[in-house]
Amino acid sequence: MAKDTVTITDNRTGKSLECPIKKGIHGPPVFNCQKIASELDLFTFDPAFVTTASCESKITFIDGEKGILLYRGYPIEQLAKNSTYIEVCYLLLNGELPNKGQLDSFSDSVCRYTLVHEGLLSFYKGFRHDAHPMAMLLGVVGALSGYYPDAQDIKNPEHRRESSLRIIAKMPTIAANCYKYLIGQPYVYPRNDLTYVENFMHMMFSVPAEPYQFNESAVKAFKIMLILHAEHEQNASTSTVRLAGSSQAHPFSCVAAGIATLWGPAHGGANEAVIRMLQEIGDSKNIPAFIKKVKDKDSSVRLMGFGHRVYKNYDPRATIIRESCHNLLDELDPGKQQPLFDIAMELERIALSDEYFIERKLYPNVDFYSGIILSALGIPLKMFTVMFAVARSVGWVSQWMEMMEEPNLRIGRPRQLYTGSAQRDYVSIEKRS
Ligand code: ACO
Repeated sequence: MAKDTVTITDNRTGKSLECPIKKGIHGPPVFNCQKIASELDLFTFDPAFVTTASCESKITFIDGEKGILLYRGYPIEQLAKNSTYIEVCYLLLNGELPNKGQLDSFSDSVCRYTLVHEGLLSFYKGFRHDAHPMAMLLGVVGALSGYYPDAQDIKNPEHRRESSLRIIAKMPTIAANCYKYLIGQPYVYPRNDLTYVENFMHMMFSVPAEPYQFNESAVKAFKIMLILHAEHEQNASTSTVRLAGSSQAHPFSCVAAGIATLWGPAHGGANEAVIRMLQEIGDSKNIPAFIKKVKDKDSSVRLMGFGHRVYKNYDPRATIIRESCHNLLDELDPGKQQPLFDIAMELERIALSDEYFIERKLYPNVDFYSGIILSALGIPLKMFTVMFAVARSVGWVSQWMEMMEEPNLRIGRPRQLYTGSAQRDYVSIEKRS
């Protein structure tokens, strides 16, 4: 029996199968169970993919027990401190940090694509004035597929690269337009003389009537927020993008599928839910009663921004974002009371010393503090998940690009354990009770 294998034995038949163990660079090894179906006539059962590695990837590594996050091998703390968002985009897409020439050329290429087709602007008008901006983002990014028929040629590496650049470049424009439509202001066109982050802020916050004044601390906090949300390996939205992409769908519709998945409160929608929760708590003196509700099995109330499928330790992004939040609030308005931040800090302190959270290894995730930063930056609640989607779009396209380069790409197709009715004959309506 080979050493690097797992033996699976079907005790009903005595038939065995040796499954090879594969080791990655970091993290637990996996065993390849693909032959189980053909050799043992069995399928594995793993609802919610708790224990299934769905692909090989070189992009991101997470050690959930230790609270480590690496993009292409680089710790998130170092990137948040030293890098720019556009450089992180280059890194995620290409695998290496760029030299000066590569970075300039990449930034120029992204700039070339920041405008959207004027026809796309008419899509916003079809939405109700109070439509959720995630609904708009989802619809408009899906519609973008109709403007780039060449991008459907996903076998062509040049078209794939161009599609990725277009997504990275156009997401801030489309997102800012969602915001402008929401508040009834004119759309603001991109400015290619600004950095990626500044341009996004310019399109969000400037109005034609007066120039927009950048605040350095706000730009820095916004940059950190984008870097921290840029990529997170096989989470629900990224897995959705990969699954959609595996059917050779148009890349922009794959991204739209990712946006749809991100919207849920168990995923990217949590940043919005955290602020609603903090507002509902209203005062630190109400925290114990709230925690009691969270722990009550019959209440279905969760402590939003806490817990994670992979992190069983402090989410490293939450540590960075908490510090960034502290700095931003101090610099924007020194000495001012920050009631939501204060409630969040106290809630975290109480939860982290409570047996319920300790036992279940529930720690703050990235969304616990990101909403407070976004509020301080002047971004309304309804736009929070849109900001997340803009930041994550580079992760989606990097994963999509990696998958499309696989030589033997096959359509993703999970199996099931059927528990419905056994085969039966059709009964005419007159004979039914
Ligand atoms: N508040 C209270 N209890 C929780 C929480 C929470 N936030 N999260 C998990 N638990 C409890 C569950 O009730 C369960 O308890 P039990 O064993 O007594 O039944 C146990 O911890 C395990 O929880 P699961 O739901 O099985 O964990 P799972 O890995 O499936 O879910 C998730 C992870 C969805 C993130 C969950 O922790 C959650 O709902 N958190 C709040 C929403 C949130 O912040 N989402 C953002 C995630 S980060 C991101 O997507 C960017």
